[in-house]
Amino acid sequence: MMVDLDTTSSKKLKKFDDKIDEFRKRIKDSEDFKVKDEVFDTATLMALYKLSSKGYLDALGGTVSTGKEANIFHAVRTQDDELQELAIKIYRISNSNFRAMQEYLIGDVRFRNVRHTKKDIVLAWTRKEFRNLSRAKEAGLNVPMPLITNRNILVMEFIGEENIPFPQLRDLNLDTEQASFIYEAVEDFLVRLYRDAQLVHGDLSEYNILVDPDSLTPVFIDMGQSVTLDHLNSAEFLHRDIDNIARFFSRSGVDVDTKELYEKVIRSGLDHQ
Ligand SMILES: Nc1ncnc2c1ncn2[C@@H]1O[C@H](COP(=O)(O)OP(=O)(O)OP(=O)(O)O)[C@@H](O)[C@H]1O
Ligand SMILES: [Mg+2]
Repeated sequence: MMVDLDTTSSKKLKKFDDKIDEFRKRIKDSEDFKVKDEVFDTATLMALYKLSSKGYLDALGGTVSTGKEANIFHAVRTQDDELQELAIKIYRISNSNFRAMQEYLIGDVRFRNVRHTKKDIVLAWTRKEFRNLSRAKEAGLNVPMPLITNRNILVMEFIGEENIPFPQLRDLNLDTEQASFIYEAVEDFLVRLYRDAQLVHGDLSEYNILVDPDSLTPVFIDMGQSVTLDHLNSAEFLHRDIDNIARFFSRSGVDVDTKELYEKVIRSGLDHQ
């Protein structure tokens, strides 16, 4: 919730301003304030401050990734006397890609009332990723646990250890046996996401799969664009996801019959009804 300027006393507002300045300073003091300066407009800072005052994060760390649409930061909070690592995904409002976002939002009944200004689309997108992750998590899938969203900020479980995210699937040097082990888990994810969470990922590729290097367990990330099965383009997105996966794994010697996999996923959905 944003501060209501009409009802908040100026004193309270001043206190809030001071807090934001303090937060801004803390951010500037940290290593990569240049990147951060771009992302952290005052409204984003206020949202971050709100989250920290509610205990969702205690300290913001360094940049994990600067993507096309969002920046990811490492953060920590104490939870039951233990330090918990978090990933903070901040979508940039001045987003060059928001037209593409619009296409994924139109047709999703959950977001039919969203106004189509740039800001509203990005905020809806943030909520959409939160809901998609929650839905996948509820279906028992291996995705980062989402904690909360505020404005253009999504707070979720950090997938990695000690500030270092697990490598993306594309960065691993896999032999055929390891690749087919991971492939089995990816196939299982596709089926269960479709059947149990009733979603299609929409941007599944070796970039959006992180892998625990010890156990070779894949964790699936970046679900902002995931759509429900009733979305007009869900079949097209599923085809594309499967093609990406097949292309990647075939390079490691795992042959994937894309048609068979597509039918397997769709059939699992039908069996379930
Ligand atoms: N929960 C997380 N835990 C650890 N690292 C994460 C997490 N989420 C994202 N990352 C890191 O940030 C990178 C980008 O995340 P993500 O794909 O969600 O954002 P994006 O905006 O789509 O970026 P891109 O445009 O590069 O695809 C990931 O590849 C990963 O390295
Ligand atoms: Mg990504």
